[in-house]
Amino acid sequence: METMSEQAVFPPSPEFSSRAHVPSLDAYRDLCRQAEQHPEEFFSALAEKELTWFKPWDHPFEWNPPFVKWFVGGTLNASYNCVDRHVEAGNGSKVALHWIGEPGDTRDITYAELHVMVSRFANMLKARGLKPGDRAIIYMPMVPEAVAAMLGCARLGVTHSVVFGGFSAEALKARIQDLEASAVITADGGWRRGKTLNLKGAVDDAIAAECPSVHTVIVLKRTENEITMTAGRDVWWHDLDATVTDDCPPEHLDAEHPLYVLYTSGTTGKPKGILHTTGGYLLHAVLTMKWVFDLKPDDIYWCSADIGWVTGHTYIVYGPLAAGATQIMYEGAPDFPAWDRWWQIAAQYKATIFYTSPTAIRALIKQGEHLPNAHDLSSLRLLGSVGEPINPAAWEWYHRVIGKGRCPIVDTWWQTETGGVLIAPMPGATPLKPGSGTLPMPGILAEVVDFEGKPVGVNQEGFLIIKRPWPSMMRTIWRDPARFEQNYFSRIPGIYFTGDAARRDEDGYFWILGRVDDVMNVSGHRLSTMEIESALVRHPAVAEAAVVGKPHEITGQAVCCFVTLKQGNWDNHKLGIELRQWIAHEIGSFARPEEIRFTEALPKTRSGKIMRRLLREIVTSHTVSGDVTTLEDLGVVTKLAAQHDED
Ligand code: WT7
Repeated sequence: METMSEQAVFPPSPEFSSRAHVPSLDAYRDLCRQAEQHPEEFFSALAEKELTWFKPWDHPFEWNPPFVKWFVGGTLNASYNCVDRHVEAGNGSKVALHWIGEPGDTRDITYAELHVMVSRFANMLKARGLKPGDRAIIYMPMVPEAVAAMLGCARLGVTHSVVFGGFSAEALKARIQDLEASAVITADGGWRRGKTLNLKGAVDDAIAAECPSVHTVIVLKRTENEITMTAGRDVWWHDLDATVTDDCPPEHLDAEHPLYVLYTSGTTGKPKGILHTTGGYLLHAVLTMKWVFDLKPDDIYWCSADIGWVTGHTYIVYGPLAAGATQIMYEGAPDFPAWDRWWQIAAQYKATIFYTSPTAIRALIKQGEHLPNAHDLSSLRLLGSVGEPINPAAWEWYHRVIGKGRCPIVDTWWQTETGGVLIAPMPGATPLKPGSGTLPMPGILAEVVDFEGKPVGVNQEGFLIIKRPWPSMMRTIWRDPARFEQNYFSRIPGIYFTGDAARRDEDGYFWILGRVDDVMNVSGHRLSTMEIESALVRHPAVAEAAVVGKPHEITGQAVCCFVTLKQGNWDNHKLGIELRQWIAHEIGSFARPEEIRFTEALPKTRSGKIMRRLLREIVTSHTVSGDVTTLEDLGVVTKLAAQHDED
């Protein structure tokens, strides 16, 4: 099936198109034309229609490269837009979240109930002295209170930073410190594969020393885990909740008020705090719910991501809730108690839209078709994919087995930095080509260019860039505007550089070819080679380390480390296990390397730079080609390649 022709084209069915928000390619092109010719008018009109503002803006747009502002002078509140306005419009009894806990407990939370939860949580933060502009870390399982915590922060203007529960105490500490956060919101645990995550323990380790900014830790009770509470600092969610009221008017916040910071890996050892602000971000989130997910009032929408990643921010919290959707939220693992858990949930709640990643699809394929086939998936009408290009075999299976050949698949290309989907089909308009994100959203001037910034020819490989700022673009790297400019706007001055390679075919469709920097994509999550290398050399046995992504059947790429050791008598087998554990400790379990290879030396250029390209070739093809004339010692490479053949 990997041979499915790249030329296969799947036009939308007339039935789907006739009901879609964007019903034809002409309608799509018309939106693009308006957005391109009159971006300020285009986005102003949509911001007025899709969002509720307390005060209108003075200027739609201000661009001082690389810094952009949208809806300058306008005020709004993200939590008001996600919750209150639906209640005020008479939709309070509509279910916002059908929540399913991993052990099987369930809760249906209406917009009216969510409104109370969010208001009370905001009052809890207030009671602990938090005010607009303060930062709070959210380190929680996938429970409704995590959503309420994010929106409660947004209600007060407290900038949140969600840290994925799989990150270690070390990673958590680095984020708390970078943000100088005053509060951490966590839980006594969360369920994953029948076990509980020790979130509170990690919080304690993280802030035991060197986190003087944290004065409050709010702990939700989710499990029966025994935890320690530090008097004065730690408070149970339910105890604090008992002291507050339901009444919490939303702050009137500037359109450019910092909504959240989300950390992502870059090319150095230090993660980047990507800053998103309020008005433009929320607008793009809500627009793409309609354009890409074709969301209608009666849809049952389900995004399987974790709220710790950007997909969870934009397509579980801000997008669907601002659009007033009913969605499914599931706490646990897809294989618990068995590999049909997702299909059982989709059938039970009659999901209509389902959004997941190619890596999850590949893992599910392995378990066999009989699992989805045992459940009634006829409610589904649209499928989505995100995280990496979807390979033909995964596309075919997703389309045939899950979508029964009826459901369009929207392959959504975007990044933590872009805030929302930038390249994707509009399912009622755009003919699909499996493996391609197809065409850009209106107002997104995407192009494939060479080193000088000149567009390359049809089907030529180049760098993917976005020529004009869009509303949900990241605003800066937290506390590091110089790195922001250097990272994204210096390759071609003033133009957003995505870090992805791509080509465009004869229909103008974009095909993403992967990263051009030292960033790996493991299970759709971004991992930095440098970040893992710096963690490895912190281990007392390690002299030097080089990390590359190695092709992997399920996760796309897997982490492969080349390590040289300091003098000593090491047991390589034991040390290999220890170093894998070390990475889980330093970064998080999802970063645990697949493979550690010990070597006497690493291939370097004469100037001393590690030649990762060669190592990549070794793990990919087991041979070495191309230009190695700058190699200090070719013998090292030959030996590494040979060593692999012996394994
Ligand atoms: C990188 C961004 C956006 C949420 C998930 C990851 C790759 C993402 C696709 C796709 C091809 C994709 C890119 C991008 N990527 N989606 N549909 N097709 N590549 O967010 O961690 O910020 O990673 O993921 O390489 O640059 P992220």
